[in-house]
Amino acid sequence: MSTAISPTAYNYKVVRQFAIMTVVWGILGMGLGVFIASQLVWPELNFGLAWTSFGRLRPLHTNLVIFAFGGCALFATSYYVVQRTCQTRLISDSLAAFTFWGWQAVIVGAIITLPMGLTTTKEYAELEWPLAILLAIVWVTYGLVFFGTIVKRKTKHIYVGNWFYGAFIVVTAMLHIVNHASLPVSFFKSYSAYAGATDAMIQWWYGHNAVGFFLTTGFLGMMYYFVPKQAERPIYSYRLSIVHFWALITLYIWAGPHHLHYTALPDWAQSLGMAMSIILLAPSWGGMINGMMTLSGAWHKLRTDPILRFLVVSLAFYGMSTFEGPMMAIKTVNSLSHYTDWTIGHVHAGALGWVAMISIGAIYHMIPKLFGRAQMHSIGLINTHFWLATIGTVLYIASMWVNGITQGLMWRAINDDGTLTYSFVEALQASHPGFIVRALGGAFFASGMLFMAYNVWRTVRASNPAEAKAAEQIAVVGAH
Ligand code: HEM
Ligand code: HEM
Repeated sequence: MSTAISPTAYNYKVVRQFAIMTVVWGILGMGLGVFIASQLVWPELNFGLAWTSFGRLRPLHTNLVIFAFGGCALFATSYYVVQRTCQTRLISDSLAAFTFWGWQAVIVGAIITLPMGLTTTKEYAELEWPLAILLAIVWVTYGLVFFGTIVKRKTKHIYVGNWFYGAFIVVTAMLHIVNHASLPVSFFKSYSAYAGATDAMIQWWYGHNAVGFFLTTGFLGMMYYFVPKQAERPIYSYRLSIVHFWALITLYIWAGPHHLHYTALPDWAQSLGMAMSIILLAPSWGGMINGMMTLSGAWHKLRTDPILRFLVVSLAFYGMSTFEGPMMAIKTVNSLSHYTDWTIGHVHAGALGWVAMISIGAIYHMIPKLFGRAQMHSIGLINTHFWLATIGTVLYIASMWVNGITQGLMWRAINDDGTLTYSFVEALQASHPGFIVRALGGAFFASGMLFMAYNVWRTVRASNPAEAKAAEQIAVVGAH
């Protein structure tokens, strides 16, 4: 198969920018995670100041890891994948640059406003209306760049990874715009357009699908490109990937009420959310199996390739969290798990094990290619990172399971005379060892990111402008 060099080139500048910022925001967001985890162990770390208190830094952590770290990883990989699989340059360099700078501006806005206590109070949708509007404009521009590039593609069909990225972009826009409908009363204060149980339902329709589309569908797009590429095998089943796509996006949107069990939400809506969540196990595992089976005949590569290990272990955690999620959606199980650290453990099995690990694997895959190098500066350091991340995730989730079940059982224990067996403080004391282990696990995970930063920096530094330029050329045949 001969490869001809096309006169046009990919826009790698924006991909490089987003890829580097993924690492930067990853360190900051996870570092902040370790800090708030430490606050739960040593409350003195709140420093008695409002803006360094757990309540204000916690939403900053979630915004930094989800939107800054996860968001930059999604922008970087989707711009890379859409260009390579469509064998064409992004439709507009200036619009792509606007999405980069606009997105960074939203993040800086979050870093300033959240510690000041300026918040809508809706989880994962905390940013007040001026920032929410900027975010909506950036997002719609992202959609234009992504779909515009698909329209001008040189290939006949649209690779399945782009279907997942496309659904993630469209649904995120819909969720963000509907959930943020509000009445501003001042520059940094607004009130939701919805009231009571309706407001709660719309918020968790948003919240759950932020998980389903932002933290899952987008990353599945990543999985469908980077797992086959790194394993150098075609995807196990193209047919399964199409079934996976339609089943996943059809079912996810109904599962939000599992966040509102035993609330004022009508009972039928809670049961519907529960049933849909259980059914969701099937497409989730279909996707996981499709990714895992792509390694058929290439399992031996796991011995020598830590990047592939990141990608495959992320799929294992994806499988685990999407088994756990449907179980937690069952009302009787949820009556034990809700409000406890079990939920926090579930979140981080998905967030660290799946979202962060697959992003890290994809970034390690891309960096040398973006800068015209054969491989990362040090494979050994990637291996060190892999073990820090894996051990960190296991420590985090195991400690939260123990804490969660302990808390749930202690809260519901009742004496013969009907009084509570344990006070809340006793349950908190019982959780203390788990909090220490979680902070330790988080520190493992976050320190791995420092190794990554060093490795990326050395790889980028070793590249010269001519090499980087040559990497941008579109190789027409057998390219992606
Ligand atoms: C089939 C897939 C999944 C189902 C059915 C599911 C179900 C659930 C349930 C029942 C809860 C607890 C709700 C509560 O008691 O308040 C929950 C919480 C959560 N899950 Fe999942 N989950 C799934 C996959 C995932 C994945 C892959 C991730 C992350 C990447 C994730 C992230 C979260 C988050 C962030 C929360 C906490 C929301 C909050 O209260 O702030 N879930 N999930
Ligand atoms: C070093 C890694 C990390 C550490 C130490 C850490 C720590 C924490 C802590 C202590 C909380 C508050 C728990 C509580 O309120 O009891 C939290 C919440 C949360 N974190 Fe992390 N985190 C880390 C990485 C991440 C990543 C990479 C993501 C997403 C991609 C993430 C997503 C979340 C979410 C969604 C919540 C809110 C959960 C809920 O409300 O149910 N975290 N994290």
